[in-house]
Amino acid sequence: MQPLHLLEKKVLKTLEKIGEADIEGLSRASNLTLDQVRRAVEWLQAKGLIKVNTSQKTTITLGSKGLEALKEGLPERRLLRSLKEGLRTLNQLKSRFSDEQEFNAALGRAKRRGWIKIVDDCVELVNEPGRLPEEEVLERLSQVNILDEEELTKDTILYSGLKELLNRPDYLSRRVVKTTQITLTDLGRAASEKVSEEEEIDTLTPEIIVSGIWRQKRIRAIDVEAPAPPIYAGRKHPVQLFIDEVREIFVSMGFEEIEGPLIQPCFWNFDALFTPQDHPAREMQDTFYIKGEALNYADAESIKRVAATHRSGWKTGSRGWGYEWREEEARKLVLRTHTTSITIRYLADHRPKEARVFTIGRVFRNEKVTFKNLVEFHQIEGIAVGPRLTLRDLMGLLSTFYKRLGLEKVRFWPTYFPYTEPSMQSVVYYDRAGKWIELCGMGIFRPEVTLPFGVKNPVLAWGGGLERLVMMRYNIDDVRELYANRLSWLRGSPICP
Ligand code: PHE
Repeated sequence: MQPLHLLEKKVLKTLEKIGEADIEGLSRASNLTLDQVRRAVEWLQAKGLIKVNTSQKTTITLGSKGLEALKEGLPERRLLRSLKEGLRTLNQLKSRFSDEQEFNAALGRAKRRGWIKIVDDCVELVNEPGRLPEEEVLERLSQVNILDEEELTKDTILYSGLKELLNRPDYLSRRVVKTTQITLTDLGRAASEKVSEEEEIDTLTPEIIVSGIWRQKRIRAIDVEAPAPPIYAGRKHPVQLFIDEVREIFVSMGFEEIEGPLIQPCFWNFDALFTPQDHPAREMQDTFYIKGEALNYADAESIKRVAATHRSGWKTGSRGWGYEWREEEARKLVLRTHTTSITIRYLADHRPKEARVFTIGRVFRNEKVTFKNLVEFHQIEGIAVGPRLTLRDLMGLLSTFYKRLGLEKVRFWPTYFPYTEPSMQSVVYYDRAGKWIELCGMGIFRPEVTLPFGVKNPVLAWGGGLERLVMMRYNIDDVRELYANRLSWLRGSPICP
């Protein structure tokens, strides 16, 4: 037997005593509030201990005109009475009525039913009727105040009286009421008999614990499986939760987080990364340009070295791109297209011999929004600098990162980026979709990227989209869903999927 709540016990006991009742009746008989009774009734019903029958009935009560008629008689009856008192002319009779319309109606009715005859201005009584069905109904109502319509319709006379009176405004008032009838089921009766009248502790308070009262009394068992309404507390957006998780992983791997501006001069977004000034990624249709230009974006020496590297390779051992590098291009402002602009700037500012840093942030690309593309999305980016670092370390690093996210099957494919050599694409196997998914791009920064800023040790670098990982985590196949702000998803998505 499931444990019963105090309210349930009270309602059961009350029903045992009074047999059947509605909510109000139970509330009165048990001294519980309507709300408490409603709650208990709902629980008891779910447990099969009580039966709740609801039905509808139509009740009839007297309206204002009906009350008047009960005292003074129906208008047609008053008319007949006046005739018997000796009044004759229409005017005399009319003077007995305060409402002319009422008089006319009474006159018409009496004439139609053959009770009177009208000759010129005079009214003659032809035949005085006995008790009218309407009068029967009024009489009944005067005795009981409220009548069940169904009951009235069983009796033909009362029924015709009812129909007549309902046609007259304000004589009767007709209301549809819902009634509830609550009774114990057999199970409920058995349960009620077992409920002891002994007092139980319903809510544990500090006093009960401190005073030791709890030793003497029974404490109500709690049904931990009872249905309860969901509570939607405030919570972080699932994308933010995922960002927090990625941050935790990198920090646990010894990385430090860095940040940088969303708006970057082309110099840091492209030029410092050895991306030629005529590279297609720099076109307006791929990149958002911002009005204005950067002024003090780098020191003169670094700019000179980058220019020379693009032109002819400077001292990097490269032949460069072989074109005349223009500073106006480098000064242009863009919404960063990748977070690699942040890691290269970190390298230039700190010229580290060793470092492990990462950044998570928004990037922007001038693309059409589709189920797999957004204009504004997040990237995860990082670099590791050290004297003996190799491509194998980079693959190991990324494998570890993916594994911590629960992605076990990882592969690396060769690819191309202007700023890394060798360059690789990491792909992971997505079980649910049964295919390999491209994640971070990676590689070792070229000397053309690191030497102009005085960084001599190898720099392992990687970066890639965050949203894809979130989609895999939550089994979502349209990236727009992540930012559609659908409350059901925001509230319902599991914290630990
Ligand atoms: N910036 C590249 C992208 O946006 C990823 C990348 C980062 C590649 C670092 C190599 C090194 O896809």
